[in-house]
Amino acid sequence: MDVISKELFSVLLSWYEENKRTLPWRGTPTPYEVWVSEIMLQQTRVETVKPYFTRWMKTFPTVETLASAEEETVLKLWEGLGYYSRARNLWKAAKIVMNDYGGELPCDRESLRKLPGIGAYTAGAILSIAFGVAEPAVDGNVLRVISRLTAEPFDIAKDETKNAVADRLRPLMPEGKTSEFTQALFEIGALVCLPDRDYRCEACPLTSFCQAYADNCQDRFPVKPVKAPKKVEKRTVFVLHYEGKYGLRRRADKGLLAGLYELPNADLFLSEEEVKARYKGRVIALAPAKHIFTHIVWEMEGYFVELEELPDEPGLFFATAEEIKTVYSLPSAFKAYKRELKK
Ligand code: ADE
Repeated sequence: MDVISKELFSVLLSWYEENKRTLPWRGTPTPYEVWVSEIMLQQTRVETVKPYFTRWMKTFPTVETLASAEEETVLKLWEGLGYYSRARNLWKAAKIVMNDYGGELPCDRESLRKLPGIGAYTAGAILSIAFGVAEPAVDGNVLRVISRLTAEPFDIAKDETKNAVADRLRPLMPEGKTSEFTQALFEIGALVCLPDRDYRCEACPLTSFCQAYADNCQDRFPVKPVKAPKKVEKRTVFVLHYEGKYGLRRRADKGLLAGLYELPNADLFLSEEEVKARYKGRVIALAPAKHIFTHIVWEMEGYFVELEELPDEPGLFFATAEEIKTVYSLPSAFKAYKRELKK
């Protein structure tokens, strides 16, 4: 008999009612609130998302307010969350929801999945949490829980695994409780069935169903595909200061951090002499820094340059620290050097 059963979910739902966290997107969220929170929560921790979600809802309380915002404002509000295409897609999708659906998110899977940024997982979360539709939301956390319960060595990176798990969960979703079903799975993954060796089986209501627990091999699941090593790029970052303003550039529309702003920077590590040859002024070396993206690592060396004259560089412009704080979205990759931007 499959351990993934109605009995298991009945125990899990009771546990959820007792143990669920109070989160800003819980209660009776609108479809828009579920959508925004689920997009923010992709690859991002709950604690990080909380203040972003609250601020976003104050600024853009409805699909309409988001759709009519400037792209710059949307990206600025996302600053620090990473994976900025998520913000761009939310904004693009909001415009489509205004034009094609009168400002209300559609409540069927096919229409939702046609919106930019909404895949099977997000569609399942919106449908089950906000619309009471029996459509599972299967993300990496859910796959971890299911792979341990079943002790099945499936490949969590494959879409077909997610689809197969969704097909197993769908008939078990209780009518009227689809929201609790989806969120109970998130919650057990976030509070009890933690990744790697951090599982807390002593606090788990599901041990009597769990095959990995029975075999004492929790840490073998989920079976992780071998990841390609990240590509390391060396960069030299410049904090260029001139008459109370700092140098900025806009990145290309395609590729890493597409269309966002950046501190001017160069490939490889330049020596102080090379920096002096490039910029006229007083040069001070800053501490090295590192930023890890999904597939790339930036190793950075930095220089503060008190410019004596404006360099003639394509795309370079100057803004005050206040403007950089309020208008231009400067990604977290530059965090170590952003500290140098003072009033
Ligand atoms: N992770 C992904 N979606 C979530 C949600 N709605 N609540 C808590 N954690 C989550």
